[in-house]
Amino acid sequence: MTTPFRAVPVGDCIHWVGAIDWSIRDFHGYQVNRGSTYNAYLIRGERTVLVDAVKAGFEDEMFARIASVCDPSEIDVVISNHAEMDHSGTLPQVLERVKPSRFLASPLGVKALHAHFGNLGAEAVKDGDTLEVSGGASPLTLKFLETRFLHWPDSMFTYIPEQAFLFSQDAFGMHLASLERFAEALPEHLLDQEAAKYYANILMPFGPMIQKLLARLDEMNLPLATVAPDHGPIWRDRFPRILEAYRRWSSNTLRPKAVVAYDTMWDSTDLMARVVGESLHEGGLEVQLMPLSGSHRSDLATEVLEAGALVVGSPTLNNQAFPTVVEALSYLKGLKPTGRVGGAFGSYGWSGEAVRQVEEALTSMGMELAGSTKTLYVPGGDTLAACHTLGLQVASALQERLAGEPQPA
Ligand code: FEO
Repeated sequence: MTTPFRAVPVGDCIHWVGAIDWSIRDFHGYQVNRGSTYNAYLIRGERTVLVDAVKAGFEDEMFARIASVCDPSEIDVVISNHAEMDHSGTLPQVLERVKPSRFLASPLGVKALHAHFGNLGAEAVKDGDTLEVSGGASPLTLKFLETRFLHWPDSMFTYIPEQAFLFSQDAFGMHLASLERFAEALPEHLLDQEAAKYYANILMPFGPMIQKLLARLDEMNLPLATVAPDHGPIWRDRFPRILEAYRRWSSNTLRPKAVVAYDTMWDSTDLMARVVGESLHEGGLEVQLMPLSGSHRSDLATEVLEAGALVVGSPTLNNQAFPTVVEALSYLKGLKPTGRVGGAFGSYGWSGEAVRQVEEALTSMGMELAGSTKTLYVPGGDTLAACHTLGLQVASALQERLAGEPQPA
């Protein structure tokens, strides 16, 4: 059948039938500069199975890709690995059109789908349950693995042991619109950058649970020839690289790097930021300045992902920290970047509350404050010397902390 969008074979009897969102730039507050994909997969055995669906508005593209393989009415089983609406938004239309004999989700997925769409007739599969897709000489089995709170309560993986093929929903994904379906067809630096941004903005709060999941996968010793997430490219030979990155990120392994996030009203806090940055570097750290007037919070989160220090500068505006600084700190707090060394600085005109507010915000994120400084109006020589000292204090505190950590074997 000729259709404007075609399915892409990604395994034995497995096709990618998702959609490419070239135009999205704001994914619930996360700036996605390179668009995204909503990956859905069609398995053709004795039964035909659809794994996940696409965001509302992309149903025509998905159905066209399915139709390039089979009539959508041949789909017998629909699986929802994750109920967030970028993967479930078209499920009501899918179920209406396909009328599958079974619609499966995790127990918490059934509840989440019901809360979003009313009763769709979803049936719960538990951790370890299996479903036979084909029997006989060419068996094909689906095994369900609950991955609660990674990153939603309902999340689960679906695994095909006969092909060592894992559908990993959001895990190991990235927001990257591309016609390439496999990671090995894309530049490594691009994969590293977008995978880190995705982890920082979606998965960073769940590090301890991801550690447990990785330990469980290690214990199960699952062969993984193909890992197919719900966003971005599918992993084959390059999977060990992203798996290693997930081990590093989820264990909160930090580098000798400092991020200086700041905004300014009349360039005083800007000057302080630049001097703090110089002395952090003098103290042996890699340094990234993030002027919040032009840096998106999701890029800030990405820079903070492996940074051992976060130094925040804010002028005081009407007794408050500057709005862009408040927004950045609120966003970061939700992502739980614990265990960093912190510092604060800023210029003020009357009462100067911002630095104290920044200190409180950093402390509330579990950061150890290495120092702070503030100045009335325009920084003079003493203030710039204090900024220089602040950078050295933060660098020294971080170097000391990293030196005390056990080194990888
Ligand atoms: Fe891609 Fe959590 O949805």
